[in-house]
Amino acid sequence: MTTAMTAHPKRDPATGELHFFGYGFFALYLTYHRLSATGTLVESRVVDVPGPTMVHDFAVTENHVVWLDLPVVFDAGMLGRGMPFRWEDSYGARIGVMDRAGRVTWFDVDPCYVFHVGNAREDAGAAEAGGAGHSRELGARPGEAIFVPASGATSEDDGWLLSIVTDHAGDGSHLLVLDASSLDSVASVRLPRRVPAGFHGSWLPDHGAMVSAP
Ligand SMILES: [Fe+2]
Repeated sequence: MTTAMTAHPKRDPATGELHFFGYGFFALYLTYHRLSATGTLVESRVVDVPGPTMVHDFAVTENHVVWLDLPVVFDAGMLGRGMPFRWEDSYGARIGVMDRAGRVTWFDVDPCYVFHVGNAREDAGAAEAGGAGHSRELGARPGEAIFVPASGATSEDDGWLLSIVTDHAGDGSHLLVLDASSLDSVASVRLPRRVPAGFHGSWLPDHGAMVSAP
């Protein structure tokens, strides 16, 4: 494998396969990869996007992969001045639904940017994805949504979504807790520090186990 690798690979719970991708600053811009359950690279496929879009996350459903082809693009002129990406109005915005044969159907959407995808599902063979998106004007920025299953869960969305939401004005951050099945807000915990958007985390369940240092 010669591409970069996303921080957000997806493991298919039914097959054990790992789906992931890499994006680059130069053509070919986006490449999809699939690992078998035993860790062998079984597929690498270029996904045709028109330019160096920053693809941070994606979604996988039973039969499809969902791509976000959005107007935050690489700009070489910004190298050395922080993140070398900028909003590009002319780029447009598309969501792509790729089937297992690699055929992608693109849908134009209103320009926005989505860092993280909360979930995706299929209804009658069609894929639908929900993400933590924001336009340039929105003040609060939701971060990556972490799914926490309820103890004794009986369905796959029985649990909560946790996301750190940062006020762009810099006035601290909140840990937002949503019911994962309804997306109703359950709690909002004010954090004493501002946590930058895009900061990643994991949920570690406390099963009462003691962890000791080696
Ligand atoms: Fe992320």
